[in-house]
Amino acid sequence: MSSKLDKAREYEVKKEKMIPDEMRPGFHLSPRCGWMNDPNGLSIFGGEYHLFYQYYPYETVWGPMHWGHATSIDLINWKYLPAAMAPDEEYDKDGCFSGSAVATEDGKHVLIYTGVHKEEDENGDMHEYQTQCVAVGDGVNYEKYGNNPVIRASALPKGAGIYDFRDPKVWKENGKYYMIVGNKTEDKDGQLLLFTSDDCFNWTYDRVVIKNNHRFGVMWECPDFFPLDGKQVLLTSPQDMLPEELEFHNGNGTLCIIGSNDKDGNFNEENCQAVDYGIDFYAPQTIASADGRRIMIGWMQNWDTCGIRRDDLPWFGQMSFPREIWIENNRLMQKPLREIENYYGKRISRQNVLISERASLSSIEGRCIDMTVKVRPALEDALYRKFEIRFADNGKSYSTIEYDPVDNIVKIDRKHSGSRRAIVHQRRCRVSNNKGKITLRLILDRFSMELFINDGEQVMSMVILTDVKAEGISFNCQGSLLMDVTMHELKR
Ligand code: FRU
Repeated sequence: MSSKLDKAREYEVKKEKMIPDEMRPGFHLSPRCGWMNDPNGLSIFGGEYHLFYQYYPYETVWGPMHWGHATSIDLINWKYLPAAMAPDEEYDKDGCFSGSAVATEDGKHVLIYTGVHKEEDENGDMHEYQTQCVAVGDGVNYEKYGNNPVIRASALPKGAGIYDFRDPKVWKENGKYYMIVGNKTEDKDGQLLLFTSDDCFNWTYDRVVIKNNHRFGVMWECPDFFPLDGKQVLLTSPQDMLPEELEFHNGNGTLCIIGSNDKDGNFNEENCQAVDYGIDFYAPQTIASADGRRIMIGWMQNWDTCGIRRDDLPWFGQMSFPREIWIENNRLMQKPLREIENYYGKRISRQNVLISERASLSSIEGRCIDMTVKVRPALEDALYRKFEIRFADNGKSYSTIEYDPVDNIVKIDRKHSGSRRAIVHQRRCRVSNNKGKITLRLILDRFSMELFINDGEQVMSMVILTDVKAEGISFNCQGSLLMDVTMHELKR
């Protein structure tokens, strides 16, 4: 083991002990210590789920990337394992960037990642070079392959840029390995490239899977590509997006393109949408579970909102709650992983509650809960004007979800969550017109809120850093409505 990895492993063991459980999310994976970004290497190996992550153990800011590591049998309760990789080779000395993992036929766990190294060119300008690399392991310890990098810039097709070439997602199909990887073209546009291999070590360029054609942002990061419900689905996270109505927003975004592969394996696009309509979600990866579900986990953060931080927390960044995804009417649908029910504690349920002014309901409160709220107009022909759920409320700080049934808009707002930074605090999402009927399911953890709208039609996620003792929940309506609410406490 390299001294860099050794040092990281020693450091994280010591540091982890200084972080009490209450200072972490209850149900979302946070870094063992320090900084976390993208999920990496989501895979099944040795009968367990493995999740790696972009990791800088020493500070709560991004630094030379390591790979953190955790395992779980249900994707909810995670156990930390020692850091899997450190940037300790010439070809990855400036970072082990995002990638994926596969289990090979001969019982090895193979990590495929982007090695980053900075080098001066002949004019004295510094450049960051990105190549694809491999490490082989047993589920705990990983050894970088002697012939790394396995894909260099020289393998790139004409027009591909040589600097931005990262985030390989590998899968196995009919005995062959496939890799989809992000690239920025020479004319500064995103494209995703496909490589194939018989052994995971020797790779051949195959084709351009898709070109951005200057539509969504610039560079496309962290692709994933898989069949689902008779369709072929492509996920990617573009940088530098311009806003489009309420579908896409400025900055880093997420894209789900639903299409189909023709008989020659070319991808034809049919529909394109955002993956998450909230503030904090990026770089998701998916996995097929043993029972055939497609499960997605994203980084529940956004590069432009990293200013929302608390100096007293010795970790930064967390994963989203795992989501089951499926396709309905050519749209991506999402719901929280059903195993959440295994963590249900106390259940509180109230039916037909009339809301026409601010109201709290006894025992409906908490910061680790799964709560479903269904509303409908109290009188069929009198549509109410606005419905609001206020949560993580201590009278001073609170966050809200607002539904406007006239304009069909749901808004999440963390402006009053205690943040002292001028970053994005609100986001709006257009929802289907159901004449004042809506179902809102909130997964509330100590430091986040994920909102599943209308049984998965849309999801809005955001980080909140409000004092964890702020547990109040209340409801309000301009006009009047009837509400059914069921809340489950989430317990370990
Ligand atoms: C996406 C990303 C990836 C890269 C990694 C670096 O969030 O920028 O493209 O591999 O983060 O940490």
